[in-house]
Amino acid sequence: MCGIVGYLGNEEKKEILLDGLQELEYRGYDSAGIAVIEGDKLNQFKAIGKLENLREKTKNYHTEGFGISIGHTRWATHGKPTELNAHPHLGAYSYVVHNGIIENYQELKVELQNDGVNFLSQTDTETIVHLFEKNHKTNTNVFSAFEETIQRLDGAYATLLITEADPDTIYFAKNGSPMLIGFNGDDVYFASSDTPIIGKATEVYYLEDGEYGYAKQGEVKLFDANGKKSFTKQALTTDKVSAQKDGYRFFMEKEIYEQSRVMTDTMIGRVLDESIAFDEIDTALFDSIKAIKICACGTSYHSALTSAYLFERIAKVRCDIEIASEFRYKEPLLTKDTLFITISQSGETADTLEALKMAKRAGLKSLSICNVDNSSIVRESDAAILTRAGIEKGVASTKAFATQTMVLWMLTLYMGQERNTISKEVLKTEIDAMLHAPKALIVTDELHAKLHRLSKRYLHGHGFFFIGRDIFFPLALEGALKLKEISYLHAEGYPAGEMKHGPIALADSELFTIALMPKTMHYDKIKSNVEELSARDATILAISPEPFELADDFVQTQYSSHPMVEFFEMMVVTQLLALEISVRLGNDVDMPRNLAKSVTVE
Ligand code: G6P
Repeated sequence: MCGIVGYLGNEEKKEILLDGLQELEYRGYDSAGIAVIEGDKLNQFKAIGKLENLREKTKNYHTEGFGISIGHTRWATHGKPTELNAHPHLGAYSYVVHNGIIENYQELKVELQNDGVNFLSQTDTETIVHLFEKNHKTNTNVFSAFEETIQRLDGAYATLLITEADPDTIYFAKNGSPMLIGFNGDDVYFASSDTPIIGKATEVYYLEDGEYGYAKQGEVKLFDANGKKSFTKQALTTDKVSAQKDGYRFFMEKEIYEQSRVMTDTMIGRVLDESIAFDEIDTALFDSIKAIKICACGTSYHSALTSAYLFERIAKVRCDIEIASEFRYKEPLLTKDTLFITISQSGETADTLEALKMAKRAGLKSLSICNVDNSSIVRESDAAILTRAGIEKGVASTKAFATQTMVLWMLTLYMGQERNTISKEVLKTEIDAMLHAPKALIVTDELHAKLHRLSKRYLHGHGFFFIGRDIFFPLALEGALKLKEISYLHAEGYPAGEMKHGPIALADSELFTIALMPKTMHYDKIKSNVEELSARDATILAISPEPFELADDFVQTQYSSHPMVEFFEMMVVTQLLALEISVRLGNDVDMPRNLAKSVTVE
């Protein structure tokens, strides 16, 4: 996701900004830019793609003496990843960088356009710089023009502004998105997390929501709604890796907690009040399409399996799912009326990429759902939808799965809407449920503590069965995969109704059954499947909104009106269970043995 760096002082500003942005690379981005003011010299550089491109563009540029500077890595939300949409955004004589979302930007933009302002980008951010310059016309005090500006902003922001009108000052504001100020002698640093300034600043102040102010050499003034305020700096950590984890013990843990937020990012600009929009897809992609085939590996395959239920149920289109490594050698019969979808977190999985090439050779139209822009799979596909999960570091995939599944749900609705297979009312109900999903993904202290407590009972035994029906069957597969990957315990996902056709023979008190029992979907059916297991003495951990008497352990989820909302909440429970079991077993949670994050060989 987006990153901010700022610096004010005598050191080489370009290097500080680029090195700082490099430290934020792990969050993911698709373009980057910097702006520097040194006296009356103002310079700005932007580049799409990797930071290398920005380094190349700035290779002959050097800064000297005192100056102020801001930099940004952007992960596209409003508008495509282009140079014009990259930050810093320029007004007539000022620059701004911003993380977050200005919710009332449309209203502000119209107001500014009516005043004759010409917008260059499609971003919400550009409104900040124009609004500032508009205020500055009538209010020559730069700080109060800035103050007036931020008072008009609704939504989440962390923003830095520099202006030729005051070339030795950086203006800052924070509300809802993280930002901190670093100090080293008279030099002042800004960043959206502490990794870019570790080793440079010695002390830090983490800004609180609603705080804003300005920084000059050796002087930082802080304000909030009640006026000027004092603040206490603290020593800055020197450990970069732990800083990247934002205080969590593991990247996987951090990524589980991030899911609620990234899910919102995935929906921005796509889930509208009464419709679904994908700017990146030309609806001609669906012309004469009669079926869908999806290929993927690992966790991505599980999100594909989930979507098969939705494509047939909602979009009324036949949907087959194949494991990419199997698909490659089965000599599949492919017809041109099939849309070929690949799903991949990394976009580099060799089997998935090869499957895609086969489909293309057979003349099929292709669409990829991927977390990494410009990856091989994205480049090879006719169209791509990015999941916007941000960089995922834990080998066991969590937020990538959540966002893939969300994109697929959105896509089924989009197809249903474009092909008129769902009514406006149904679409509205689905959208309302979608907007509830980020809430279902919030990890409460209570839930995490409960799974930590429960995990001590599940460190042995001769196996785990995760069971579910319908879309909860792929979720059971994914829950079992998570547990296998990081605990090294044997776990299987199974369709609950199929247990009696074989696996129930394994049932005894050392067989742990994790039962996904949503209330919105086949509750009575799964209940009787679980009763059958309980009657054979299996140990049952039930996950359900509905208390279940025969459960040995019970994790209660919220009652909800939509199965997908229950799906996402139960997904978090299974992820935390795997995490806590792995921690108790002393395993390497982020880098489990024998596994690779991206498998680029067959
Ligand atoms: C590896 C990873 C899995 C991942 C799978 C597919 O096995 O360890 O977590 O699900 O590859 O990766 P992809 O990047 O294509 O989603």
